[in-house]
Amino acid sequence: LSETDKNYLLHSIREIEDFPKPGIKFKDITTLLGDAKAFTMLMEHLVARYKDMDIDYVAGIESRGFIFGAALASQLKTCFVPIRKPGKLPYTTISEKYSLEYGVDAVSIHIDAFSTAGKSKPNVLLIDDLIATGGTATAAVNLINKAGAHCIEACFILNLTFLQGDLDIKKTTPVYSVLEVL
Ligand code: PRP
Ligand code: MG
Repeated sequence: LSETDKNYLLHSIREIEDFPKPGIKFKDITTLLGDAKAFTMLMEHLVARYKDMDIDYVAGIESRGFIFGAALASQLKTCFVPIRKPGKLPYTTISEKYSLEYGVDAVSIHIDAFSTAGKSKPNVLLIDDLIATGGTATAAVNLINKAGAHCIEACFILNLTFLQGDLDIKKTTPVYSVLEVL
């Protein structure tokens, strides 16, 4: 992507002050999705990056990661796996906990999510819209590896790099961010 394209994409994401809490500047990707030029540019960029990486599964993190992940999996003609909040998946699951500012949360997948490719260690691309503290994505990478697959890369549309949320993931797994907020 050229700097002009990156700027276009960055500006297609709306910022909402004090949502969901005072002091938080929420990155609203609905305005990117609502801009056909931006959404198409982004998806074409991701397809070009990942089409020759031998990806067996795209795994998207609930809920905004589902949007980009499912669209990408379809265009790559590969499978999609939802990584969900606990209690949402109906079959047997495995989970990975992570700490929040106050308390803990977890992400879950079906135990057989990566069995359909017929490979012993299928390649999984993890995708989410945004990485902030990195808690969610770090747990998701661990979960993919725990499920017997290989997380080939963790991809984010937007990385709030000043929070350094990708530090732990980078110890084991490549991280790619389309856009960065320094
Ligand atoms: C947001 C965002 C990422 C996560 C990043 O999701 O979409 O998934 O937070 O935060 P972290 O890096 O600090 O873990 P959110 O939990 O708000 O849910 P949503 O995608 O369902 O809106
Ligand atoms: Mg999310």
